Amino acid sequence: MFKVGIVGVGYVGNIHLTKFSAIEGVEITAIQDKDAKSIDHAKKNFDVKNTYRCHKHLLKNEVLDLVVICVPNHLHAELTIEALESGHNVLCEKPMALNLKDAKSMIEAADQNQKLLLAVNNFRWDYFNPSIFKLKNLIDSKWFGRIYHIKLQYLRNKTFSPDLYSRWNLDFESSGGGALIDLGPHIIDLGMWLASDYSTLSVSGSVDAGLLKRERIDDFATGLIKLKSNCTLQIDLSWSGHSRSSWKIDVHGDKRSASIGSVKDRNPGLKVFKWGKEEIDQEDIGAFTSSDLPEKSLQEHIVKTMMQGEESLCTAKNAYSVLNTITQWYESSKD
Ligand SMILES: NC(=O)c1ccc[n+]([C@@H]2O[C@H](COP(=O)([O-])OP(=O)(O)OC[C@H]3O[C@@H](n4cnc5c(N)ncnc54)[C@H](O)[C@@H]3O)[C@@H](O)[C@H]2O)c1
Repeated sequence: MFKVGIVGVGYVGNIHLTKFSAIEGVEITAIQDKDAKSIDHAKKNFDVKNTYRCHKHLLKNEVLDLVVICVPNHLHAELTIEALESGHNVLCEKPMALNLKDAKSMIEAADQNQKLLLAVNNFRWDYFNPSIFKLKNLIDSKWFGRIYHIKLQYLRNKTFSPDLYSRWNLDFESSGGGALIDLGPHIIDLGMWLASDYSTLSVSGSVDAGLLKRERIDDFATGLIKLKSNCTLQIDLSWSGHSRSSWKIDVHGDKRSASIGSVKDRNPGLKVFKWGKEEIDQEDIGAFTSSDLPEKSLQEHIVKTMMQGEESLCTAKNAYSVLNTITQWYESSKD
């Protein structure tokens, strides 16, 4: 039995509960939350063995294969390091940490304790599956030629109400920022993964208070990232906007280009284009093969790769590069 413990069972903790519970051979051995109501809610809906109000007790008492850290951003580093030091492998929610110093300490704690540290980047499974895996395989097979530009947009209509003040996300000390640090880890990671390049040459970006107008909490972010391979990532992110929620990825190669995306809740389609031709039909892309159809969820991917001793797509090293990019983007915004 693969034993999972979840620290923090709020919004995203419940998503992990749902998805880990659905995997055969996985047991939710323990959950922890400082809030009794959150524990009761989780217990009512899921088959959970042990519950704790203090994470230290969970970490000390339980023998687990994986601890998932699902608390507000400012607690990621501290709780992850505690979990690693008490001998647990950790999957940490995004963003990995509030700053690079903390993220480095997390990686060092994993190394020193010879434990695995993984970071959540679930969008490829939750929003773009399976088209994005087909796209990635086509990119890696050089079908698009050299990839020189990827444009990624994730624009939401509404995330938080303007009159909401209680959420930790809107408090800079707890969140570290707004749309960029919240959505950036997903979208920057997707761009770097598609480009097979997690090294940045330069980052030039801007953030804006947008419609929410909260101090130090960006509601909109736009940036240009130049990768070591010379591929550029152009990224727009927003929490609020006078538009329909949508996301889109355009990949430009010197042989072909591709577009993937949708208006929220519609199935993403993969379209391929060639200079001087009409849109290429799906048949020309080739049928989806088993390597284009991976696990159904990030959680399945994590369990499978851990059990088989394989490297996952959720490494702390890549999450560090993504956080480094976000840090440079916020710095550049001050210019
Ligand atoms: N991967 C994704 O798609 C995704 C989506 C939403 C949120 N997140 C991330 O998940 C994390 C949690 O976000 P959320 O939306 O679930 O927040 P939330 O406020 O809904 O839940 C956080 C939970 O942590 C608990 N908590 C707070 N301090 C704690 C402590 N010291 N020990 C244990 N529990 C504590 C709270 O009581 C609450 O139940 C954030 O880092 C966020 O960025 C990721």
